[in-house]
Amino acid sequence: MCGIIGYIGKSKAAPILVDGLKRLEYRGYDSAGISTINNRNIIVEKDIGKINEIEGKTNFSKLDGNIGISHCRWGTHGKITRENAHPHVDCSGKISIVHNGIIENFSELKEMLIKKDHKFKSLTDTEVIAHLLEENYNGDIEQAARKALQQIEGSYALGILCSDEPNRLIAARNESPLILGLGKNENFIASDVPAILKYTKKIIYLENNEMAVLTDKNVSVKDINGKVIDKKIHKIEWNSELAEKGGFEHYMLKEIHEQPRAITETLNGRVENGNVNLSEEINLSEQELRKIKRIVIVACGTSWHAALAGEFMLEELAKIPVEVEYASEFRYRNPIIDEGTLVIAISQSGETADTLAAIREAKEKNAKILSIINVKGSSIERESDSVLYTYAGPEIGVASTKAFTTQLIVLYIFTLFMSGLRKTLDKEKIKGLIERLRKLPLQMDALLNNDEEIRKIADIYKSRKNALFLGRGVNFPIALEGALKLKEVSYIHAEGYPAAEMKHGPIALIDKEMPVVFVAPKDIYTYKKVLGNIEEVKARGGIAIVIATEDDKEIKKKADHAIYIPKNLYTLSSILAVIPLQLLAYYVAVDRGLDPDKPRNLSKSVTVE
Ligand code: G6P
Repeated sequence: MCGIIGYIGKSKAAPILVDGLKRLEYRGYDSAGISTINNRNIIVEKDIGKINEIEGKTNFSKLDGNIGISHCRWGTHGKITRENAHPHVDCSGKISIVHNGIIENFSELKEMLIKKDHKFKSLTDTEVIAHLLEENYNGDIEQAARKALQQIEGSYALGILCSDEPNRLIAARNESPLILGLGKNENFIASDVPAILKYTKKIIYLENNEMAVLTDKNVSVKDINGKVIDKKIHKIEWNSELAEKGGFEHYMLKEIHEQPRAITETLNGRVENGNVNLSEEINLSEQELRKIKRIVIVACGTSWHAALAGEFMLEELAKIPVEVEYASEFRYRNPIIDEGTLVIAISQSGETADTLAAIREAKEKNAKILSIINVKGSSIERESDSVLYTYAGPEIGVASTKAFTTQLIVLYIFTLFMSGLRKTLDKEKIKGLIERLRKLPLQMDALLNNDEEIRKIADIYKSRKNALFLGRGVNFPIALEGALKLKEVSYIHAEGYPAAEMKHGPIALIDKEMPVVFVAPKDIYTYKKVLGNIEEVKARGGIAIVIATEDDKEIKKKADHAIYIPKNLYTLSSILAVIPLQLLAYYVAVDRGLDPDKPRNLSKSVTVE
């Protein structure tokens, strides 16, 4: 949802900014721009398109100057045009800004500024900030920024340059993420860690209503009234290679292949000697955990699918009633939350605006919040009582892959932990489940190294217009995720459905053009019923593509294509089944000539409601 990076130091700013923008492009890629100061002049280059395309047609990466700000856009106000791209400049051409967020009172401010003869060049909400800074400027850009921020309502992460003060970079944050990176004789601002990981691992997280003034040697953070704040410097553990493509054609494929490692890291130190060890991480006492009568999970997108699988795990094994809510709907229906309710928020980025708003609503109702987060230091983490990290590493591909499977792993171990605490499973049972869980990384490796059948299927069906994904029990959310992956990256219309519900509608769509992907590992619960659903599809001329357990000969006879996954327990098989679905979506997108890392209209981190 728009990416920002800024630099001040001894090096040329533009190449660093362009490099950073490429790493932030997952946040928005409809247009991009850079502004630097050279010889006390503001220079701006911006255009529509992806960073590589813009680099080819502008002077973008060659701009002079040792201070600069840049932006990649996911438009909210104003169409995708060069004028609406950031940076935006005031009338005097001395101030330039980049912004992520939404200025809610921009219409009133614009009207006021137009009356004062300011000339607007774009239709964005952002441009009002540039003119507001100009209006308040009296030789001190920090002071002007403070005054302007006091007039603004809404969300913002801001980078500000002023050509009269070429040795200062101003940053500010309210409700949109912004970090400061501390280097040697150079400092950075960025929306997210991967953009600057190559240069520094020392990070300050800006909080709401905080401003920062950066010079090449110094960073000072103040509140909106000018009071200095002593900020903690965090050391990032991610290694910068994790944010590179590492020989893969796309981040999405690289991240799919990283899942065995990501899962191993997510399990490390948490499951040992047949025990689940979460007590030290969970900031809730055993007494508080025992008091839980009900769990509500809030999330969006792929994380919401993980939540649905978590519901299944927690009810089945820990016997705790669970409800799963779209975070965006949660606060609009006066949810019933009491002190016996634990609210779990699941979010890869930890910045999704709706999920953040949902936990705030729950906190107001005195619920305890446990979040499952991938990005450390994120807003959701900071507002939660307790956090369990997924150790997926930076996820750059817009379509979530390794974050999803590591979320499932965290939900599974949390379930085992709660089952132990509530004695719904005995020690031996938990030990047995952990043994099977430990097998997942190797089983995934085997799957990843054997994707011939999936490539073949992708090639055959790449031009279809629709697809249906069906599963039952815990495989239903997996089917939903398979459909989401396909539609996100290939733009083929895809629906996920509980297999038995097919008869109540989707069956009308089935004909010889319709591929139906069944998630049907062998189990004692629903497998036989799903075989019946496959028959129903075949009887209507549909195409059955089935994800099945490796020794399942029955499926071979019924399905048009079988994709085999290794044998494991019911719930754990569903985690393995995710891999072929991700690969299928990836190969279909690539076969259609699309870039799966930057699907149209999507953004990795939706920081506006
Ligand atoms: C966007 C992304 C999805 C992601 C969802 C929730 O829609 O494109 O991949 O699942 O946001 O994001 P979160 O960071 O909260 O998991």
